[in-house]
Amino acid sequence: MRDWLKGTEVSWLGHSAVLVQTKAGTTILIDPFITGNPKFPAGYSMPKKVDYILLTHGHGDHLGDAVQLASKYSATVVAVYELAAYVAGQAGAKIIGMNLGGSVKLGDVTATMTDAKHSAGAQDENGTHYTGVAAGFVLSVEGGPVLYHAGDTAVFMDMKLIEELYRPDVVMLPIGGHYTMGPREAALAVKFLKPKLVLPIHFGTFTPLRGRPEELQPLVPDVEVAIIEPGQSL
Ligand code: NI
Ligand code: MN
Repeated sequence: MRDWLKGTEVSWLGHSAVLVQTKAGTTILIDPFITGNPKFPAGYSMPKKVDYILLTHGHGDHLGDAVQLASKYSATVVAVYELAAYVAGQAGAKIIGMNLGGSVKLGDVTATMTDAKHSAGAQDENGTHYTGVAAGFVLSVEGGPVLYHAGDTAVFMDMKLIEELYRPDVVMLPIGGHYTMGPREAALAVKFLKPKLVLPIHFGTFTPLRGRPEELQPLVPDVEVAIIEPGQSL
């Protein structure tokens, strides 16, 4: 546990799934891909409560088990407007629909929706549905760290705006390649975002996601890249 996290626990659950628990007790689950996620840690005991489920976009490996978990935990689903409406239609879940550049208060966390360069859309037995655009989230914990989960994205220049506006301490960046940026592009993202710590996500889950943290680290020698196993915390 790092002092500057001020008691906020960030746990990686494989792929892009991340659990954030603040010292004050706010529990946030991001992109809860559990069923069918080969990297979800076997035997992992989920928390007793989840207050909010944040979705970066509607693809199955991010929407994941959101509908079932929202109902199980009575959690509020936070997503871009159209995706939130889609989830409400599936589950009658409590939702907060928002959009790029906006912020909402989630307990002691301010969540800001950021841009991402990626496609969106949710697929189910009735076909592919328009679910708004792909996004990322900046989570600013009161008296604590600033976390940025980039979702699925290419590297983009406006990451400089995210740095200027929010000064993220921890950045969770996809590095697998193929569907998102890989290590080479993620290294430039790190240069733009200037974090204390990088948590690589969206790699190794499926064969095409070939990028590895060990490739990223030498490209960003001045910044620590967390090399942890699914189920472990920063
Ligand atoms: Ni995607
Ligand atoms: Mn994905």
